[in-house]
Amino acid sequence: MSYNRKRQNLLNKYPAIHDLMLKAKKRIPEVAWAYLQTGTTHEHLLERNLDAFKDVVLIPSFCKGQLAPKVETSILGQTFSAPFGIAPIGLCGLMWPKIEVLLAQSAARNSIPYCLSTVTTETPETVGPHVGSMGWFQLYPPREMDLCKTILDRASSSGFDTLVITVDIPIPSRRERTKRAGLTTPPKITPKFIWQGLTHPSWTIGTLKRGLPRLRAVEEYSEFRSMMSVEKFVAGQLGGNISWDYCQKIREYWKGPVVIKGLLHPEDAEQAAHLGFDGIVVSNHGARQFDAAPSPLEVLPEIVRLVKGRTTIIMDSGVRSGLDVLRALSLGAEFVLLGRAFIYGVGAIGRYGGDHVYEIIKGDLINNMVNLGIESFSEL
Ligand SMILES: Cc1cc2nc3c(=O)[nH]c(=O)nc-3n(C[C@H](O)[C@H](O)[C@H](O)COP(=O)(O)O)c2cc1C
Repeated sequence: MSYNRKRQNLLNKYPAIHDLMLKAKKRIPEVAWAYLQTGTTHEHLLERNLDAFKDVVLIPSFCKGQLAPKVETSILGQTFSAPFGIAPIGLCGLMWPKIEVLLAQSAARNSIPYCLSTVTTETPETVGPHVGSMGWFQLYPPREMDLCKTILDRASSSGFDTLVITVDIPIPSRRERTKRAGLTTPPKITPKFIWQGLTHPSWTIGTLKRGLPRLRAVEEYSEFRSMMSVEKFVAGQLGGNISWDYCQKIREYWKGPVVIKGLLHPEDAEQAAHLGFDGIVVSNHGARQFDAAPSPLEVLPEIVRLVKGRTTIIMDSGVRSGLDVLRALSLGAEFVLLGRAFIYGVGAIGRYGGDHVYEIIKGDLINNMVNLGIESFSEL
């Protein structure tokens, strides 16, 4: 069957992110699924993130002749084929073996950014050659500057050009859903897990081939290689409450653009712009950190009023369609990241799952631009 025919079949079978989610849920073991889906505390923010999009209405305008929307977008000194990219997801290999490499390849094929997490299950050296010029690297800043520089050097020499510093994890959050599912460190091999392995054969075969997911990029800095020791290292050495001073030191060290991820407070956005950071990601970490936080859409207009034009405004958390992307752009965001949606894609259909998510989101974006009566984002 030709590539185009296959593509069309997939688009007919899984026309929306929701369809990919339902399929992925069947192919990913329950414990990994809980890790992917969890929010924090009562998980109210998960719903708030999705609901906030419904409240953004756009008034269509008609009789404009034939419209041919252009969605290519330039930010941070680079041009992308669409105004969205792939958000950093830690412990990705738990959801699907080698998923970082697969998503990096999808990003390179489709000219959208792929952001690799510090707590990745594949190293920057492994992923870098697949991502081409589309690589962003996300940093949970190590408390010690020497270690920080070592990690930055590795990311940079592996070909990652844009640095994303995540600042919204001052302390590990409570994620009750993962506890209920029985995710512990180190993982305990219980009859329940063996059963989950047996009932998810594609995941299990891939995982046996690749080896159990480990934090391969940072495990060498922990005293021992055991999962428990690496987790202790991550909790003790990465992230925590870092300061603007520290972020500035990183900025001076890194040669490419530097983006601060995880801001919601307009004063923090103002500070990032004032200090000259190239971009910010307005995000509540996909509802995983602080259940009383607002949805990024609720704070976007004020942040846009304060800093638009001085720093690039990116948003994420809850984006599930091209229309969501359009809504975020209509409130002043310049670019959008999607986290879970891309994992659903690979979980559902494997190697080309990231390409399929790209097709769905881009197709929906273009369709809704025509429905709205615009050809470019500047008309929003
Ligand atoms: C399973 C999972 C792991 C994540 N790991 C990281 C991470 O390592 N670094 C980071 O900056 N953000 C991380 N995030 C947050 C995402 O980068 C992004 O902000 C979020 O997923 C966006 O929300 P969405 O999933 O609704 O699109 C993670 C999110 C999920 C769901």
